[in-house]
Order: sequence, then C-alpha cells, then structure tokens
Amino acid sequence: HRPVPRLSTISRHRPTPPRSISHHLLTKMNSSPFNPNSPLAESITLLFLVTLIIGGVVFLIVLAPTLYSYIRFRARPGDEEEPYQKLGDRRLEILWTVIPAIVLALLFGFTLVTMGRAMPPVPSDAQPDLIVTGHQWWWEVAYPTAAITTANEIHIPTGKRLLVQIESADVIHDFSVPQLARKVDAVPGTTNYLWLQADTPGTFLGTCNEYCGVQHAWMRIRVIAQTPADFAAWQQAQAQIPTVPTTGPAAQGAQLFQTLTCANCHRIQGTAANARIGPDLTHLASRQTLAAGVLDNTPGGLLAWLSNPQAIKPGVHMPNLKLSADEVESLTSYLESLK
Ligand code: CUA
Repeated sequence: HRPVPRLSTISRHRPTPPRSISHHLLTKMNSSPFNPNSPLAESITLLFLVTLIIGGVVFLIVLAPTLYSYIRFRARPGDEEEPYQKLGDRRLEILWTVIPAIVLALLFGFTLVTMGRAMPPVPSDAQPDLIVTGHQWWWEVAYPTAAITTANEIHIPTGKRLLVQIESADVIHDFSVPQLARKVDAVPGTTNYLWLQADTPGTFLGTCNEYCGVQHAWMRIRVIAQTPADFAAWQQAQAQIPTVPTTGPAAQGAQLFQTLTCANCHRIQGTAANARIGPDLTHLASRQTLAAGVLDNTPGGLLAWLSNPQAIKPGVHMPNLKLSADEVESLTSYLESLK
C-alpha cells in the first residue's frame, strides 16, 4: 500500500516518459506463446510447434536438392551444351502430390482437435464469470456476480476455467493473451465467448490484435492470476466503496472531479459520478498502469496524464482539459487515494 502522496512530493515528480523500445521487446518476450500457462494455451503451442517443425523439414527438403543442383550442374567454362534435361516423371509427380496432401490432411485434423481443446463448447445456460468490453482504446472488465468494474487489468483465480464474454462498444477489437487462451474478436453487436485459465500465479500480458484506430498499439491487457485466497481478497477490496476525502488537496480534488467534466465520462462509486464512457475509476490507485498500459500508475504518471493526455496518448478520447497545476495536483491526490 502506497501512502497518499503529499502535494510537495507530487510537485517534484517529473512526468513519467513513455516506456523505451527495449522495455517493449522484453514485454513481448514475457507474453510469449512458447511459454503457455494453461491447458488451453498449451494445445495451441503444441500445434504451432508441430506445424513449425514440419514446415522447417519441408523447407530443408526443398532447399537441399535446389542448392545441390545449383552447384553440381552450374555452367562451367568450356561447356558446349546444356546438361541433360529430364521432363516429366510420373512417379515423382505422384510422390510430391500425395505426400504433401497427407501432411496437410494430418495438420488439418490436428488443427480441428486443437480448436476443440482451446475452446471447449460453452453450455447454453452458462453465465459468464467476466464481461470484457473493448473500447477505443482500453478494456472494460466487469465481474457480473461481484458487481465489480475495472479496466485493462483482469484479476483471475488460478486453476479455474473462467468463461469470458467478449464485447465491443465501438469498432472491432481482438482480445489476445497468448499464454492463457486463444484470441477472440470483440465485435460490436455480437457476443463472443472465451475460456480463460491460468495454472500458476503471475502477470500475463496481452494486446488488442485487431487494428482499431490510432491508439490500437496502446490497448494492452494484463491478466493478473492470483491464488484463490489472494483473488478473494482482491475482489473484496474492489467491492468496497471508497470514502470521499474531506480534508486537504484530496478533498479539493474530489470536488473538482464532480464539477469539472471528469464526472461526465467516468464513474467513481459512492459519488455522483456514474458515467460509463471512460474507465471506472472507483479503485484506480489499485491498478498497475494508466491509460491501457501507456504509463506506470505512479503519482508522476497520473500528473503527466491529467496535465495533457493528448501529449501521452495522441488521439485518446480524453481531451486536454487545460487544468491548472493546482487542479492537476488536487485531482492526483484524490485519484491516488482510490485504492
Ligand atoms: Cu482495439 Cu486494436
């Protein structure tokens, strides 16, 4: 638990710069499909490896005689005629038609089996454990039975197969966390389903995998798998309604939140702010990142974000509210209190 920062501390924080390229490369490796963490993802990894190996062998089988022919039959000084030309060979033709056909048929069958393993049928009376809605450019995450709504970070208990309902609020997005599950499109007007499971605790990274506009790249997903006990504790904390601060800059921030336009787009439970256009901020301070992964969720990051969201995530639907430094600091104090 971070203490609420004092005004003087916040002022000294420089805006957090967007993260470096090497950080992103590491992040990519951390979400590698070669390192699956559920039986669902394992089945896909296996199909991928088998296909990769077969493809590699075929590549070598084609490459080797091609290279051999280039060297063995190349033109030499003094050659008077072309080498022997062999045109047509029924046995060879049959061989190189039948063998690839068999390989492809096996891969096709293996793919069908894998599809069944990665996405077991959804019972018609099943209720989703999670509803994930793609927005330009963030993910809304709702737990219908617990009445919790959060954004971009999905907490799940380990060892349990969860049914996720995938929806979109605007354009087509695609939910992809390769270590845990198959990917699935979020299509406006359509409901798709996905089984999500993690065997061991950890943070598993994902992305939006369908181009959806200018900030498509900053629509990151974090699945935080916790032991069932830790998950229950998290759920309990999230279900609590935060108290509105009554003193200091945080109290000022709470007031500003309602009077400026913040409350027109965001929700904070226990206050009059109840809009669902932007992310639910009821427990904003409990999240690891801001703006779907652009910034670490630190006072400095939040300060930079509120000062000018457009400078950090150009095109984002949150406008630059041209807040004064004082207003930004008060709002930061308030939002950082929402654990
Ligand atoms: Cu959402 Cu790409």
